[in-house]
Amino acid sequence: MAGTALITGASAGLGLEFATQLARQGYDLALVARRADRLNAAVAELSERYGVSVSAIVADLADPEAPEHIHRQLADTEVSFLVNNAGSSGPDLMAERDWRKQLAFFQLMMTSMAHLCHLFIPAMVERGFGRVINLSSMSARLILAGDSNYGPAKSYVVALSEGLAGAVASQGVKIQALCPGFTHTEFHEAADMMEFKNANPDYLWYDADVVVRESLSALERGKVVYCSGRLYRVMDALVRFPPTRWLLQKTVVEGIAARRARN
Ligand SMILES: NC(=O)c1ccc[n+]([C@@H]2O[C@H](COP(=O)([O-])OP(=O)(O)OC[C@H]3O[C@@H](n4cnc5c(N)ncnc54)[C@H](OP(=O)(O)O)[C@@H]3O)[C@@H](O)[C@H]2O)c1
Repeated sequence: MAGTALITGASAGLGLEFATQLARQGYDLALVARRADRLNAAVAELSERYGVSVSAIVADLADPEAPEHIHRQLADTEVSFLVNNAGSSGPDLMAERDWRKQLAFFQLMMTSMAHLCHLFIPAMVERGFGRVINLSSMSARLILAGDSNYGPAKSYVVALSEGLAGAVASQGVKIQALCPGFTHTEFHEAADMMEFKNANPDYLWYDADVVVRESLSALERGKVVYCSGRLYRVMDALVRFPPTRWLLQKTVVEGIAARRARN
């Protein structure tokens, strides 16, 4: 059953790839992001290529009013698929002294996601069909020393998704927290982390189309917490055990952190 897929952060990266793959499956699309020009380009391209109806909603999800605004825009639309994907790297919790910047980050990464779930999932339950993917990260599975914002926010996404999935699974609504590892998108450009990206080996990096394809297939198989990429699934299994968790922290993770600090 198709319907409309609402995708946040659809002007680039994983969000745009979700839009492409869901349009290919026959979903109409409602695309959300801040950059109107990028959204309009996606509307033109995806509607032309896949013959589905595509609309753009310009919104800043760091603004607490944004979820209600999006919900109002879609009052007459059956949203059957929600992809809560918008996100960015955050300010350092200690170094950034402007609390408003911290709040904007929490709003974007956690509160707006919970709010959109709150607004859109009840209608899915009523109709007996729905799909929700919430973008988490491998950063939620193995938190780096010193990462007091991004990883913890992504851990909330896992907990939120697990809690919601348990409540609605029997009502036709499937929910997933997607935990990608490093993925080629604009994320590291936007966060000014290109040197860090270039310093990491190629085998750690996946293409967005692979991440999205695996996620959509895993959602149908009922995977509530899903790490995309075989390498990251192995890593995720290993970090469940304290000795290998310690070893990974010491070698891989501290190696990456040291390279990041050098860059
Ligand atoms: N790339 C990775 O390695 C990686 C790994 C794990 C998890 N993730 C997660 O995957 C998700 C997508 O990231 P990506 O890698 O695709 O990054 P990206 O290429 O930088 O795309 C981020 C998207 O989020 C939107 N966005 C950012 N801030 C927003 C705001 N305040 N309001 C509305 N939209 C906003 C951006 O659009 P506008 O700028 O036009 O608003 C853009 O469409 C994020 O949640 C990220 O944390 C990424």
